[in-house]
Amino acid sequence: MGRSHALLLAERGADVIVLDIIDGVDETAAMIRERGRRAHPLKVDVRDVSALQSGIKEGAGEFGPIDILVNNAGVGGRRLLIDEISVEDFDRMFEVHVRGTFFATQAVVPGMTERKYGRIVNISSIYAMGGSPRASHYAAAKAAISGFTKCWARELAPHRITVNAVAPGFVVTGMTRGSNTDEQIAEREKGMPLGRFTRPEDISYAVAWLASDETEMITGQVVSPNAGETIVGI
Ligand SMILES: NC(=O)c1ccc[n+]([C@@H]2O[C@H](COP(=O)([O-])OP(=O)(O)OC[C@H]3O[C@@H](n4cnc5c(N)ncnc54)[C@H](O)[C@@H]3O)[C@@H](O)[C@H]2O)c1
Repeated sequence: MGRSHALLLAERGADVIVLDIIDGVDETAAMIRERGRRAHPLKVDVRDVSALQSGIKEGAGEFGPIDILVNNAGVGGRRLLIDEISVEDFDRMFEVHVRGTFFATQAVVPGMTERKYGRIVNISSIYAMGGSPRASHYAAAKAAISGFTKCWARELAPHRITVNAVAPGFVVTGMTRGSNTDEQIAEREKGMPLGRFTRPEDISYAVAWLASDETEMITGQVVSPNAGETIVGI
């Protein structure tokens, strides 16, 4: 989904620092350049705080101040039950989602504060809203991201920086294919009130909207494109 978000933001005028742990950053950067925008590929593990923060600063050095941060990197819960979650599973989940989101945000806030402008979009999940019978470590890490969203919205509002979260429903990606069979995916899709799963582009539209000037007065909110799968008071 990160690539989908990056391409839509580029189509809407953004130059993009493409950060991921995988080589795909180069391909995504090439796709952004094809759309006429600048791209800076950054192959970094978000768990490595020093590499993460210096990489972001390097990107900002090339493009100028960062206006938008999308905290998207994530690892799936692998449908594990409580007694199947190892210490390594637990720590990895919190390191990628919670530590990664926190320290990436810490790297961009000073510049946004100085310029009195910023859009931070965190990626949560419907599991943080409604729970899941499996993957409690994943849901808890995503709930932490919702907590960041609300706290930072209050902390950064005086600087005109908005902070919101997008909480996708089930989207067929590498993550969900890794822990569900084709049959399980097809069966689950039949239960979607709006008739199909949300797709990466449905999530990107919400991300791009929250990253735009149209949402100057929206902060601390969780927007959940989820095909009606989860409807709760957030
Ligand atoms: N697919 C879904 O149904 C779903 C639902 C709700 C939320 N989400 C969230 O959406 C986001 C995108 O997920 P996706 O479905 O596109 O999965 P994905 O596995 O296709 O993408 C996740 C990306 O994060 C990167 N990543 C993982 N660990 C990293 C690390 N340590 N450092 C840097 N990059 C790292 C991966 O390389 C990958 O490119 C995640 O935060 C995920 O938790 C997904």
